[in-house]
Amino acid sequence: MAILSLQNVSKHFDTDGQTVHALRGVSLAVESGEFVALVGRSGCGKSTLLHLAGAMDFPSEGVVLIDGVASSSLDDAKQTRLRREKVGFIFQSFQLLHTLTVQENVELPLLLAGKPHARGEALRRLQWVELDGLGTRYPHQLSGGQMQRVAIARALVHSPKIVLADEPTGNLDTSTGHVILSLLQRLTREQQTATIMATHSTEATTVCDTLVRLRDGRIEEVARR
Ligand SMILES: Nc1ncnc2c1ncn2[C@@H]1O[C@H](COP(=O)(O)OP(=O)(O)O)[C@@H](O)[C@H]1O
Ligand SMILES: [Mg+2]
Repeated sequence: MAILSLQNVSKHFDTDGQTVHALRGVSLAVESGEFVALVGRSGCGKSTLLHLAGAMDFPSEGVVLIDGVASSSLDDAKQTRLRREKVGFIFQSFQLLHTLTVQENVELPLLLAGKPHARGEALRRLQWVELDGLGTRYPHQLSGGQMQRVAIARALVHSPKIVLADEPTGNLDTSTGHVILSLLQRLTREQQTATIMATHSTEATTVCDTLVRLRDGRIEEVARR
């Protein structure tokens, strides 16, 4: 069974009397261990799809099943728990907290979820992204590539089944972007996550298993390689 499934999902936003149709009848199933690259022009609905896939937002129509559970069927507390337990999110702008050290940033999701062994898990993940030794630094003391690796360690610290990355290489130079793509590929393989990455990187198509192309809120192409 797919760990993540969108079934005929539409999403519209109503603002100032105008309706924007961000997604229109999207169906997509993603398996554990599958690396999906989500491509398409700015405004085609990539971020909206990621938000729905991570239960950070909910469909106007259709169903999003996360590990077999319909995201819309849960109350607020259960939605929060679902996100905290099953989903890791990686952003273009890293979204690290600048008043916390690297290690504290990585620990934070576990502390918020009231989980034990936060420090040990954080150190283990920092080692995995090859940043052991930098745990006591602050984000402003890191390069962009290092910040994104911290953000990946943070996204993985609770062993999520689903990893969602929104243009994770968008603020990085080409060679640093390459390192991040390889890391996302490796984590998908080793940890068997279902990974969806929205991207403009043409290189992404060489590391992913599946390419999904969106156009005006619809899936235009699904290419498995
Ligand atoms: N919270 C929101 N409120 C109103 N419109 C939104 C909101 N989020 C996204 N949109 C609109 O939905 C469309 C898809 O946006 P988005 O998913 O961010 O595209 P992409 O990530 O591919 O650039 C755009 O027209 C955008 O302006
Ligand atoms: Mg976007």
